[in-house]
Amino acid sequence: MAILPIITAPDPRLKVRSEPVDQVDDDLRQFMDDLLATMYDAPGVGLSAIQVGVAKRVMVVDCSDDGAAAEPMYLVNPEIVETSDDLRIYEEGCLSLPEQYADVERPATIRVKYLDQHGAEQELQADGLLSTCIQHEMDHFEGILFVDHISALKRNMILRRLKKAKKLQATG
Ligand code: NI
Repeated sequence: MAILPIITAPDPRLKVRSEPVDQVDDDLRQFMDDLLATMYDAPGVGLSAIQVGVAKRVMVVDCSDDGAAAEPMYLVNPEIVETSDDLRIYEEGCLSLPEQYADVERPATIRVKYLDQHGAEQELQADGLLSTCIQHEMDHFEGILFVDHISALKRNMILRRLKKAKKLQATG
């Protein structure tokens, strides 16, 4: 398994729309294992393929509790088929926006259809952190970041900080 470099904002690649996967094959499984290893290494609870520069509708998540057994999930071509009316605010972060956090409001519960790592159709009801996480990762498929859900003032503040951090990194 390989640890892949994670793209950080601002970067035009994070605005690319991801394409559906035609076939869940060994190459994709290999890639998803790398994606999962990259997520655990970061560490994070979710990672979309576009965050390592691959514009496919593929994500990995693991929202298991700290200290509990790992619960890795591979979601290919996920689609939300139902959302609850009640909303939930969660303080979100993103491996592509290192050390930046903001409250984001989203539907509390979702039903999602997807293909698993074997290409089998699955459907799942998610709430809590898993619901937030899947919605956040699905946004990446559309080129949307969590900061696109908050006020322009807060967003610009965060993007300015990230730009500055990148500049510092570039100058060593
Ligand atoms: Ni993210």
